[in-house]
Amino acid sequence: MCGIVGYIGDREAQNILMKSLSRLEYRGYDSAGLAIIKGKKMRLAKKKGKLSVLVADLKANPLEGSTGIGHTRWSTHGVPSDTNAHPHLDCKGKIAVAHNGIIENYLELKEKLQKEGHKFISETDTEVIPHLIEKFYSGDIAEAVRRAVKVLRGSYAIAVIHRDEPLKLVGARCDSPLIVGIGCGENFLASDVPAVLDHTKEVIYLENHELVVLTKEHITIKDFEGRRIERKPSKINWDISQAEKGGYKHFMLKEIYEQAHIINNILDERCKKGSISFHELEISDSELEKIKRIAIVACGTAYHAGLTGKYMLEEYAKVPCWVDVSSEFRYRDPLVDKETLMIVVSQSGETADTLAALREAKRHGAKVLAICNVLGSSIARESDGVIYTHAGPEIAVASTKAYTAQLAIFYLLTLYLAKLRKTAAPAKLGALLKELKRIPALMGELLEEYRPEYNLLAAYAEGFKKYYHEKHNKTFFLYLARNINYPNALEGALKLKEIAYISAEGYPAGEMKHGPIALIDENPWVVCIAVKSRTYDKMVSNIQEIKARSGIVIAIATEGDKEILHHNINYLVEIPKAEELFSPLLVAIPLQLLAYYVARAFGYDIDQPRNLAKSVTVE
Ligand code: F6R
Repeated sequence: MCGIVGYIGDREAQNILMKSLSRLEYRGYDSAGLAIIKGKKMRLAKKKGKLSVLVADLKANPLEGSTGIGHTRWSTHGVPSDTNAHPHLDCKGKIAVAHNGIIENYLELKEKLQKEGHKFISETDTEVIPHLIEKFYSGDIAEAVRRAVKVLRGSYAIAVIHRDEPLKLVGARCDSPLIVGIGCGENFLASDVPAVLDHTKEVIYLENHELVVLTKEHITIKDFEGRRIERKPSKINWDISQAEKGGYKHFMLKEIYEQAHIINNILDERCKKGSISFHELEISDSELEKIKRIAIVACGTAYHAGLTGKYMLEEYAKVPCWVDVSSEFRYRDPLVDKETLMIVVSQSGETADTLAALREAKRHGAKVLAICNVLGSSIARESDGVIYTHAGPEIAVASTKAYTAQLAIFYLLTLYLAKLRKTAAPAKLGALLKELKRIPALMGELLEEYRPEYNLLAAYAEGFKKYYHEKHNKTFFLYLARNINYPNALEGALKLKEIAYISAEGYPAGEMKHGPIALIDENPWVVCIAVKSRTYDKMVSNIQEIKARSGIVIAIATEGDKEILHHNINYLVEIPKAEELFSPLLVAIPLQLLAYYVARAFGYDIDQPRNLAKSVTVE
């Protein structure tokens, strides 16, 4: 939520900062702004709306100078407006601050600062920061920032400049990500790696309670007590092209089409000579053998991956397993202890609720294993062990490739634990691994079948749009499934809600008769995941019940299933034949594509849906 950037060097800062912000726009996109120093003058440009609005403004009124900061906002305190957009200034307009996070004690601080004579102009929590820095300033901006952060409560990553010290750029972090990009005669600050990749592949990840002072030649890191910290830079081993659309109309579509390749890479990297390895996992086999239960905690799509994980872990690794959404887990008194393995799942590795849940579990003595995509993220660093999904940067706000990569890691972890705990016969595990390795090719076939220029799901989506208007917007979606594909029903509904703004519910099909069936008439479109499985016949009965009440059925079925055609379904989507256990990896694809094409039919902004942000770093 919110992206911050900073630049110090010899080049003009404006275009560098704007390009960096465009790489972070996935973090928030309701307003944006820059502050740049030239000589002893600081100038500001801030606009409500997407980055393109600011681009237009800067065209008319460019900002000159080689030291600057920028921000792209996802509002928490105060509506999106030019005034509430960052950067924010102190009373004299000398200090500018861009902030990602929430200052929890801002009201108390604001009241105090107002009493001391400080004038506020925005409704944001952020504005207390430049005023606090102003209060503590006596000629050294780094020291004033250090004193200011000591009184802040909440989460923040900040970038700060002072008009009178134009050769310095200061950053600080507590619970929101901040990295330093190391250039040659120039340096960068940013919330995330893609923002600096056009200029450097060498970065330093700041830790919590660290402050950094950048000049164009030097980088000095200190803790909040002022003690020097030495940190080796990390080398980024992926390319900026991976954070670009590569010919696809949207990032989401590109990311959907990357999935077969990603899953293939995961399996290649982790399975060598018939055995599975998690080389970066710092939890030993003997510790894993001893665990008595698994608690999986995550949010949104990552939670759905965790729910799928429960089905496989219980069936094959025979460990009792429960799954919670992070925001619920963190506020109850969870029964986790040192015999519990807590698995936290997070694409970004920065989700505030998941991070808090992780800390809560550690406080109870549980071992925490993270399944994470972003290297060096807070969740990855604070867990006892991490397994990276290596899905590459996921830019579209709606998660797709991170989801299937998380599923792939759960499959491997299940087989690994089952072998370790001897809960399944080696021959059975070998056969399952062999079948799993076949899945990326099947995903590839499926993606080829539904390739963008000729997509059946696009036609279904157009059909839905027409029907939606005919029914005066009364139609909606239900997603039904059973067993290991039930989380996919939740995920399909979530994808549709978040990018197409259509009401959608996911249900275990067996629950229909306990209430939701009352919704069925000719209005809803019901996506029934009816792939060949042990519950296939039950799903078919559910389809009949829906058809008997005039519902419109889209069936996701196994290729070659003739029986399904006898049930009067309206639309058919076929997936290749695969073991039921692994079918979620295939079923996910048409669900993602359906949401994508419905959103596209309605002309929505698919990569940046309203009200959302990619990385939810606030509660
Ligand atoms: C949905 C989506 C969100 C995230 C959720 C957790 O498409 O992207 O529901 O899955 O915000 O985010 P991470 O995985 O970064 O913890």
